[in-house]
Amino acid sequence: MTLQVYEVGPRDGLQNERIPIGTPNKITLVDALVRAGVCRMEATSFVSPRAVPQMADAAEVIAATKKHAHLQAHALIVNDKGWRRAIDAGSRAVAIVVVVSETLCRRNNRMEVDQSIETARRLIAQSKDAGVFARVYIAPAWVCPYDGPVPADHVMRAAERLAHADELAIADTIGHAHPAEVGALFERLAGIAPIGRIAGHFHDTQGLGLANAYAAIQAGVRILDSSVGGLGGCPFAPGAAGNLATEDLVLLAHKMGLNTGIDLDALWDAVEIAHGLVGRQVGGRSAAWWRSSKNKGEAA
Ligand code: COA
Ligand code: ZN
Repeated sequence: MTLQVYEVGPRDGLQNERIPIGTPNKITLVDALVRAGVCRMEATSFVSPRAVPQMADAAEVIAATKKHAHLQAHALIVNDKGWRRAIDAGSRAVAIVVVVSETLCRRNNRMEVDQSIETARRLIAQSKDAGVFARVYIAPAWVCPYDGPVPADHVMRAAERLAHADELAIADTIGHAHPAEVGALFERLAGIAPIGRIAGHFHDTQGLGLANAYAAIQAGVRILDSSVGGLGGCPFAPGAAGNLATEDLVLLAHKMGLNTGIDLDALWDAVEIAHGLVGRQVGGRSAAWWRSSKNKGEAA
């Protein structure tokens, strides 16, 4: 049995870093992740460079992913202009953000929720016509930083209108969900779209990222998002801390007998590269164990 890891470090991870990270350094990280066996990745976003300066080099990053024949490199977008820029840069896979709580939607997408859903429907259709893979995020699926708990019915209604996307990614944007509600929502969503086309996106703000990932796996989810070193956060969603760390997710998956195609030793090299890039210690909950066992010369 396999678990597909959708790596979001180069986008969700780096978008939140205050110090500018040079394009060659981003590409070094992308290359290291591919060496570790990552084959799906959100490499960048085509959003306003004024809103997210860190992603201003999106076209160059997408160009650099082209040398990896087996990598599906996604470009995150929120609007038509982003879709056009992504396609012009050669993207063959997009990740369209739909926000289902009104305040966050206004702040992040500068749209009403309904308009965000309609925009995504239009971009899914355009993507299908262009032969481009369309993933759609539904966020925040459990808790909004402004409007509080998100009713599951709102998520379900959005999912019904977006079920024809190639993939639906259900996002705990600020990392406040708990495993019981995660499992329950995925079980309902499985009635709308095949579970094999539904992904889970978790942040580790309250230390529940891995527990939520486990709940999603138990509900049948086989695509999970994570970020190398646990980098991450969203500049428009206060309180959004790092994503679930890829190394924690891969460790869990392998222990559970789920194949990810990722080599943990090589992944740790990517964690160290991420560490060098952001200039502070990074790493998921397994990092302390890994570093000490490495020092003792033990195999991971
Ligand atoms: N790429 C580049 N520039 C873009 C853009 C895109 N996808 N969408 C809008 N812009 C530019 C416009 O050209 C305009 O620039 P100008 O002032 O120089 O003419 C400016 O942004 C505002 O345009 P407008 O149409 O008024 O945008 P908007 O207010 O409807 O939307 C967003 C602005 C949502 C695109 C912008 O706030 C944004 O990119 N936010 C980032 C969202 C994000 O990345 N969140 C984290 C991940 S979910
Ligand atoms: Zn996120």
